[in-house]
Amino acid sequence: MSSKIENFLGKRVDGTKSRLPAKLDFYQSATGLILGLFMWGHMLFVSTVLISPEFFNATAKFFEGSAIFDTPKPALVSCMVLIIFIIFFIHAALGMRKLPITYRQWQIAREHSKLIKHEDTTLWVIQACTGFVMFFFASMHLAMMFFNPETIRFLGAVERIVNHNMWAFYLILLFAVELHGGIGLYRLCVKWGWFDGNDVHTARARRKTLKKLKWVISIFFIVLGLANLAVFIKAGISL
Ligand code: HEM
Repeated sequence: MSSKIENFLGKRVDGTKSRLPAKLDFYQSATGLILGLFMWGHMLFVSTVLISPEFFNATAKFFEGSAIFDTPKPALVSCMVLIIFIIFFIHAALGMRKLPITYRQWQIAREHSKLIKHEDTTLWVIQACTGFVMFFFASMHLAMMFFNPETIRFLGAVERIVNHNMWAFYLILLFAVELHGGIGLYRLCVKWGWFDGNDVHTARARRKTLKKLKWVISIFFIVLGLANLAVFIKAGISL
């Protein structure tokens, strides 16, 4: 009954507003943080290819339980992918609430962003667009990894990236995920005031530093990703 009243009045029986939107915001932030930290680890693991193909293969086998089992178990990787996919799914579903879905909403957001020329609003627009791209690209990548975990080897990656022409796919995913993740982690810090300090001047100064740091991190991972792709492509061409 109380939810019916809230539906009509926009307020609960006791006059207060529901806390659900704030709770959903918290879950969106928490899942975003997990995915952002996961991506740092993921990029570093893929970057083992810069050291040697053998090191890349050893890292892949480690995630297949090579330290515990005599033979690698690719199914373990599929389980990890499934867990990441569930977190990704929740994050995307919660993120959808923030996207402008009608022409009118999109027009308001675009004109507002142009009018006030507020950098953080522009960053939000980039985050919304890259998030939309990832609905498709990250889902496809996760499906490939889930169904073919045994192909996660140096030669398997070369086959996928060069012979199956997935390099273009990874280029798009790389830029989308690193821009989205960098902006997302910056926005988390600003939204929840993790580094704000005690007064407004400190908060402003720290936000400026965080914004610079965000670009440094995004550029670092994009360059790292490009270097990894270059190694796979070079190997594919010379094979
Ligand atoms: C447990 C889940 C995941 C696994 C096992 C995994 C595995 C891999 C592997 C093995 C590669 C190397 C290329 C290949 O073999 O095809 C790769 C590349 C990549 N993955 Fe993932 N991935 C996972 C989740 C994700 C997620 C959630 C994202 C982004 C939303 C992502 C984004 C990328 C990108 C951008 C590249 C290219 C990296 C580069 O250029 O260095 N991955 N992934």
